[in-house]
Amino acid sequence: MRLKATYALLGLLSLTIAQEIAQEFLAYDFIDTQAAIQATAMNKTQADAICASDPFYGPNYEAVMKDGVPVGCVCKPSVCPQPCFGNPYIDPKTGGRGCCSLDQKYSYDNTSLTGACCGNGTSYAYDPVAGVGGCCNGPTPGFYPPTYSCSCGAPKPLPPDECTKPFPKSVQNGGKNYLTYTGRATYATNIPGGGDAKTFNQCLAACSATSNCVALDFITDLKQCYLKSDGNDKVPSRQQNNVDSAIIPACLTKNDKCPALNQTIKVYGGQGYTFYCGRVLGTGNVKPTYTTPDLFTCVSDCSKTPGCQGVNYPAAGGAGACNLKSNYESPPKTVNAYYVAAVVLKQRVGGSSVESEL
Ligand SMILES: *[C@@H]1O[C@H](CO)[C@@H](O)[C@H](O)[C@H]1NC(C)=O
Ligand SMILES: *[C@@H]1O[C@H](CO)[C@@H](O)[C@H](O)[C@H]1NC(C)=O
Ligand SMILES: *[C@@H]1O[C@H](CO)[C@@H](O)[C@H](O)[C@H]1NC(C)=O
Ligand SMILES: *[C@@H]1O[C@H](CO)[C@@H](O)[C@H](O)[C@H]1NC(C)=O
Repeated sequence: MRLKATYALLGLLSLTIAQEIAQEFLAYDFIDTQAAIQATAMNKTQADAICASDPFYGPNYEAVMKDGVPVGCVCKPSVCPQPCFGNPYIDPKTGGRGCCSLDQKYSYDNTSLTGACCGNGTSYAYDPVAGVGGCCNGPTPGFYPPTYSCSCGAPKPLPPDECTKPFPKSVQNGGKNYLTYTGRATYATNIPGGGDAKTFNQCLAACSATSNCVALDFITDLKQCYLKSDGNDKVPSRQQNNVDSAIIPACLTKNDKCPALNQTIKVYGGQGYTFYCGRVLGTGNVKPTYTTPDLFTCVSDCSKTPGCQGVNYPAAGGAGACNLKSNYESPPKTVNAYYVAAVVLKQRVGGSSVESEL
């Protein structure tokens, strides 16, 4: 009776302490008795059965072994809560009880619901691409979903910039911006990855997780995903009913010029543009024509200007007349070999319309 009461209490203590106290009882109550001699020949399974069948304990108890010898019965961890003499926590995934040592605290990633006991000013971050997590430096480790690789001490990934921020018509997946197409295929250059993707969204995620992926074709009836290392500069050219595709348009650079720019799609400053070499947009200006050092600056100004639906710029490049247009015209109809027109992918609202000469 005395033992039972003691060990019920011991359920609240750590196993180690329980074992130590159990040893003391062994010294007083069991040494040199028949029971102690029998115990030495017993394995854990047998000792568990004895605890379970002992009317003073019962099926909720199991044996405590010390150096291969049973020294007592304690309440099973699955029945009695395990004590935590450090920092207790509730596992966000299982709801189970966990315990970090006194110098560590539980830290977890709210998306993957994985975590770890982290100490010394570190906290947990998870890399969903690599499928690994760990304790990283800093009170709030850099975690920009979902392509951040957790390597302890890594600088926080940059927030989206003029090249990476979402733009109208784009679909976001994994920090990348896609234009998606139904019934069209890029037939661009295949790269590994995407083999496990069985839906279009999984195919997007596979591309997002692959650094050199810039486009994809998803064969809808066969549920096959093909990642591409090119083919992202234009609307996918081939019509094919059983293929859906997506492209990640490149960022406009200062080097982009006609004729290479013709019919391509580029992004900058939160807008996507289609470029038409040898075309010009009609009347309707957001503001009077002014000079910019290059086409890039003119287009970048359009992105920043509410109501700007596109630009006209000299096709020859270099410094020239930048004309921000307020009328949406896609594609531009007027042929003019001296100009390149850039048209936003999706008509914008706002801005005022000031008529002026080209
Ligand atoms: C424990 O001992 C019994 C009887 O000797 C044996 O049948 C059983 O396999 C042993 N169990 C373990 C886990 O060693
Ligand atoms: C984790 O996410 C859930 C659901 O979005 C939210 O309710 C909870 O506050 C978040 N917890 C932390 C620690 O961010
Ligand atoms: C914590 O980490 C820093 C940097 O690694 C180290 O200099 C410091 O001694 C550590 N502090 C403790 C208490 O472990
Ligand atoms: C631009 O591309 C279109 C369509 O391919 C073509 O008809 C046009 O001639 C091209 N313009 C220039 C200036 O290359």
